[in-house]
Amino acid sequence: MEIRLEGKTALVTGSTRGIGRAIAYALARAGATVVVTGTDAERARRTAQSIADETGAKTLGLRLDLSDPPSIDEAFKEIETAFGGVDVLINNAGITRDKLFLRMSEQDWEEVIRVNLTGTFLVTKRAVKKMIKQRWGRIVNLTSVVAFTGNAGQTNYAASKAGLVGFTKSLAKELAPRNVLVNAVAPGFIETDMTAGLPEELKKRYLEEIPLGRFGRPEEVAGAVLFLCSELASYVTGTVVHVNGGMY
Ligand SMILES: NC(=O)c1ccc[n+]([C@@H]2O[C@H](COP(=O)([O-])OP(=O)(O)OC[C@H]3O[C@@H](n4cnc5c(N)ncnc54)[C@H](O)[C@@H]3O)[C@@H](O)[C@H]2O)c1
Repeated sequence: MEIRLEGKTALVTGSTRGIGRAIAYALARAGATVVVTGTDAERARRTAQSIADETGAKTLGLRLDLSDPPSIDEAFKEIETAFGGVDVLINNAGITRDKLFLRMSEQDWEEVIRVNLTGTFLVTKRAVKKMIKQRWGRIVNLTSVVAFTGNAGQTNYAASKAGLVGFTKSLAKELAPRNVLVNAVAPGFIETDMTAGLPEELKKRYLEEIPLGRFGRPEEVAGAVLFLCSELASYVTGTVVHVNGGMY
């Protein structure tokens, strides 16, 4: 069965690079109309244009900064005018501010919680209205393997990602009667800008813990997200799909 999403509008937060960009491409190839968003409006527009050129899908590029609530409102006004709202929401954008706990400032904590958790709450609140009304919707939240394993230096990030798991499971129960499915995808170590700057020694140690013997690619996360958005997953809600090469 081929995955087709014609007639659906999908919003992907943080889709100007990395995993979000790969998800935006995958949804566009499946025929969805894709709204590409990021903190930089021009970069979002350029990425949206490249995706449209390469896939033939309809796209729109907008600024949507999760730490700036008015920008969420603005983006949704544009999306509602252009497409009447979204049918598929991928809460992908996320940040890290890694530090050992004793050195972590309240600001490091607040920034990560605000973007990863509160930002997701705000975007989802705007997005669900149409889904509830039409009794069809798909929401996929990007969590992380560290929500399950913990990781030294990431108390803020792991707490935000574990929070997203509880958010996913609770919202899934609330929205199930309206046929709005809410799931999470938990990547392991994926090669993107987020992981590019890690010390080689640390990368070597992570690699030893991955049974498949290599880091993942953004496209390999996008595959799981696409499945959850499709009719193949019509009886799947409130769950977490792990994409980590076997490390957890
Ligand atoms: N790369 C990994 O190994 C890995 C592992 C587990 C989970 N994840 C999660 O997957 C998601 C994507 O990660 P990635 O590796 O592609 O990261 P990345 O840093 O390469 O890209 C993050 C994206 O989020 C956007 N972004 C950052 N701050 C934002 C804000 N305030 N508002 C809106 N957008 C913002 C960026 O512009 C970018 O498009 C994140 O939620 C991340 O936590 C990544």
